[in-house]
Amino acid sequence: MKTKQYLEQLLNQMTLEEKIGQLIQLNGNMFSETKAEITGPARKFGITEEELTRIGNVLNFDDAAHMISIQKKHLEEDRNQIPLLFMMDVIHGFRTLYPIPLAMGASFSPKLMEACCEMAAKEAAAAGVHVTFAPMVDYVRDARWGRVMETCGEDPFLNGIMGAAQVKGFQGDDLTAPDRVATCVKHLAGYGGAEAGRDYNTVELSERLLREFYFPADKACIDAGVKMLMPSFNSLNGVPSTANKWLMKDVLADEWGFDGVVISDYNAIEELVVHGIAPDFRTAAKMCFACGCHIGMMSNAYFETLQALVEDGEIPMEAVDEAVMKVLSLKNDLGLFDDPYHGVSVQREAAVTMTPANRDLARRAAEECAVLLKNTGILPLSENTRKVALIGPFATSQAIRGNWACHGENADCVSVADGVRAILGEERVLTAKGCTCYLEDLSTEGFDEAIRVAKEADVVVLCLGEEQDYSGESHSRVDLGLPGVQLELARAVVAANPNAVALLFNGRPLVLTQLEPLVPAILDMWFPGCEGGNAAANLLFGRTNPSGKVTMSFPKASGQCPIYYNHPSTGRPKATPDDVFQNCASNYLDCGNLPLYSFGHGLSYSNFVYESLELDTPTLTKDSAITVNVTVYNDSTVDGQEVVQLYMRDLVASSVRPIQSLIGFEKVALAAGERKTVSFTITEPMLRFYDFACNYISEAGEFTVSTGYADHLLLTQKFTLQ
Ligand code: NOJ
Repeated sequence: MKTKQYLEQLLNQMTLEEKIGQLIQLNGNMFSETKAEITGPARKFGITEEELTRIGNVLNFDDAAHMISIQKKHLEEDRNQIPLLFMMDVIHGFRTLYPIPLAMGASFSPKLMEACCEMAAKEAAAAGVHVTFAPMVDYVRDARWGRVMETCGEDPFLNGIMGAAQVKGFQGDDLTAPDRVATCVKHLAGYGGAEAGRDYNTVELSERLLREFYFPADKACIDAGVKMLMPSFNSLNGVPSTANKWLMKDVLADEWGFDGVVISDYNAIEELVVHGIAPDFRTAAKMCFACGCHIGMMSNAYFETLQALVEDGEIPMEAVDEAVMKVLSLKNDLGLFDDPYHGVSVQREAAVTMTPANRDLARRAAEECAVLLKNTGILPLSENTRKVALIGPFATSQAIRGNWACHGENADCVSVADGVRAILGEERVLTAKGCTCYLEDLSTEGFDEAIRVAKEADVVVLCLGEEQDYSGESHSRVDLGLPGVQLELARAVVAANPNAVALLFNGRPLVLTQLEPLVPAILDMWFPGCEGGNAAANLLFGRTNPSGKVTMSFPKASGQCPIYYNHPSTGRPKATPDDVFQNCASNYLDCGNLPLYSFGHGLSYSNFVYESLELDTPTLTKDSAITVNVTVYNDSTVDGQEVVQLYMRDLVASSVRPIQSLIGFEKVALAAGERKTVSFTITEPMLRFYDFACNYISEAGEFTVSTGYADHLLLTQKFTLQ
């Protein structure tokens, strides 16, 4: 790595145009012929060849060969010899895809998350990626928003832990290593609170809510050493995040002390004009720059106006220097001044990509993320079953990679049919598509074939779900049911053969209220990535025991959204949250209050019995701690894993508190007949909250601590904070 002095000398020799070039990122397709993905509006830049040599950052490119050619050409022309920084969205794998982040959250295993990110970093770095636009840690409560697939769900504590695990997994301890990439936490802030779940929509959130639910995961990533940060597209309380001074200056820079590089989202600076908050690009650029937005992603505004703004004295040169120094420092942290290629070679790329070990990890991850939502005992299926019918749009489909797939492809994915055939052989596996998973496709032409196949089999696995690109950016939905005629297909198939279980593929919690009574078991695979079919088969036949838990409530009806377990108590709570309508209580005429599947829910082939929850003392002071011991017994003949969850409730406080908050969890392996005691520690800082004036405090009084899961607490004890 170079010294600070070296970077300062470099900065001193740069012209203003050259400095501004470091503050702009352009798509790889502007540097050369490429397939590089365009993830926003394709604006026209009137950029000359000469101007291009000054640009400092690249968004998306094809592969190692492409990266090497762009970098080489750039260095041949750049008199300052400042390497380009290459960035990409490596969200759940580079080529070897593991499950989408919402599923990874369901594993409740930061260790698994870290291992998967480490694998993704290895593949991405070998192809020339220096920075990934991950972790995405937006806090979410509304499954209509398509981007819930990129998050770990509705709990701020879990999101923070999973965000930090991603930073660690991608970055490791030494960014100069050729198998590491820097991370960029996104999107600050409140993006997941998009009104009505519609992407890019307005967000109005109180400071208290932001601080308590939306900020913690961003802060956890910063504490874990994240190198970059991306503000969100949305307007937050009236001001788009990229130009939101309170957010970017007062909170991010001054309060949290973030000193890394801030990059705008794609075209976000220009969108201030569309928001109607800036009259033109020049004002937009000035506003964002003043808020500490160092790099403009695909930014005409920075490209066209920064120079004039500096020359006219509206942006001080020192501020430009400070921003450029941050970019140069990041390049230096990655060791790019010593090796602009960061160890990239076509050979290394081939050697580390999609290896059997990577696929093996992806399979294990898909198994750990799957959630057994319902099981009356029909699962696991016997491997001696005479004939199994796989019916539905996901029976033979390889389209299970999930959105934000980076360089992963459908063709890399193992279908359910192939996974099940690997266990049962060809002859015992029947398949029928029945229908598609498209919203607009109401054709029932395939039903007869599906019914015929169902009748021929001993057991049916209904492979249903949501098209993989119905979630992700710009893919919000108002009706969270199974798209198309899949529910009708399920009814027809179950009528023909009631021995039918459902296997689901989805990028968000779906409304399963009508499917649920039709089938005795539902196993949710989410979008599991390239090894999905093998993982599904192992789980269906009990070679692996499911252990995932829901991290985002499955509503009973789309109209329940936003729905989340950690909601504040109302003054008129319903006596039994899911019972029939109760006059003058907070409830609906036509639906219960609880989701169909709550946060923390997830079954196993083992039977876990929560035997005791004990505190070593019922009293806590500012300087002491309480040890909580939870004893769990595997009362079955099957080895398994259980996520032991610890919840807390503040019974009386000066602001209304959530009815439950997760404060601890641990995933433990329990052999058949084994008993384990899991210990948690409670200290005073864990009981703090933001009061009415947004002071972060704890208040003396009574609390409960419980285990079980969100809406189904099994054991509870009280303690007092003095
Ligand atoms: C827009 C998305 O909002 C952001 O998450 C992503 O990193 C950029 N495009 C780059 O693809």
